[in-house]
Order: sequence, then C-alpha cells, then structure tokens
Amino acid sequence: MRRKYLAWSLAIVGALVALIQFVPYGRIDPPEPARREPGWDSPQTRALAQRACFDCHSNQTVWPWYALIAPASWLIRHDVDDGRGHVNFSNWDRLQRGLRGVRGDVMEGRMPPWYYLPLHPQARLTPAEKEALLQGLAATIAKDTPPQPPPRQRAANPERKSTE
Ligand code: HEC
Repeated sequence: MRRKYLAWSLAIVGALVALIQFVPYGRIDPPEPARREPGWDSPQTRALAQRACFDCHSNQTVWPWYALIAPASWLIRHDVDDGRGHVNFSNWDRLQRGLRGVRGDVMEGRMPPWYYLPLHPQARLTPAEKEALLQGLAATIAKDTPPQPPPRQRAANPERKSTE
C-alpha cells in the first residue's frame, strides 16, 4: 500500500514538472540585439562589467543549462527582466533608472546578488576589482551620460494648502 502511494506521488510530481515546462516564460530566445553600449572609458571596465553584471544587466545574458528547466527558468528570467529594467549596458540610449546607487550596491555586496555567485565564481570581484569597476563606470557615465530619471520630486506637503 505504502509503495503504491509513493509511486503515485512520484508520478504526479513528475507530471507536474513536465507540465510546467510548457509555460512560455524563461530564456529569451532569440536574444534581443544590443541597441547601443556605453562609450566605455576603457576595455577593462567593460571586461569587469561583463564578468560580473552582463548576465542580468545587458542583452548578452549567458543562459546556463538549468535556465531551460522550470521553475529555475522562471526565477532567472524574472531576475534578467528586473535587472535590465534598472540598468542595461546594451541599451545605453534608453533610461538607466538604477545607476545612482551603484557604488553602494557593489561595495555593500548587494550586486551581484549573493545567490548568483556560487554558480558564477568569475563574477566574484576582489575589492580592487570592485573599485576599478566603479571608477571606470563613473568615468564612462561622465563621458557618455545615459538618459537619467528626473530628480525625485519633493514629497507634497499636505499642510500647505493652495490658497489660490
Ligand atoms: C543575477 C542577476 C544580477 C547580476 C549578476 C547583477 N545584478 Fe544588478 N540587479 C539585479 C536585479 C534583479 C536588480 C533589480 C532589483 C534590485 O534592485 O535588487 C538589480 C539592480 C541593480 C541596480 C539598481 C539598484 C537600484 O536601487 O535601482 C544596480 C545599480 C545594479 N543592479 C548594479 C549591478 C552591477 C554593477 C552588477 C555587477 C557588478 C550587477 N548589478 C550584477 C540583478 C543582477
């Protein structure tokens, strides 16, 4: 009896895993072409960004094999969409709304995200490499400033009613 339950449970889980593979959300294929990369200040800056950031912040994502299998593919696709929406080194002609906090994000270890590093050891930057990337990025942004979001609006003051 026990065995039968186990066999059924495995069959059901197997069927579910097979079924979710048909959800059309995952790897972006064919890849989106790059519109315009920044005018990099040096090839070194680009190489560092490519190593540590391009998978989620460019159109040159390298999709690992497990990105083909749901539900991993959903999580990865979500990160790639979200990351590109904040900063995309392939679409420098478009709004880059996430760049302002880049130094803190890298220095405090929020970028690249911790869960990305064990499977992508090449993205682990030394403190010197982080500094080189950030200085290179700052020089790149100064040289070739991408469209920025408007400065944050001051919060409306509810006390100050218009008297007009
Ligand atoms: C595994 C995917 C991944 C990698 C690799 C990655 N990022 Fe991100 N990044 C994201 C996601 C997802 C977001 C949006 C959500 C968030 O802010 O946490 C993001 C947001 C950002 C933001 C905007 C934060 C904000 O406050 O708007 C910056 C800046 C950034 N990343 C820089 C980098 C840099 C620089 C690298 C390389 C050193 C990098 N990221 C590597 C996924 C990634």
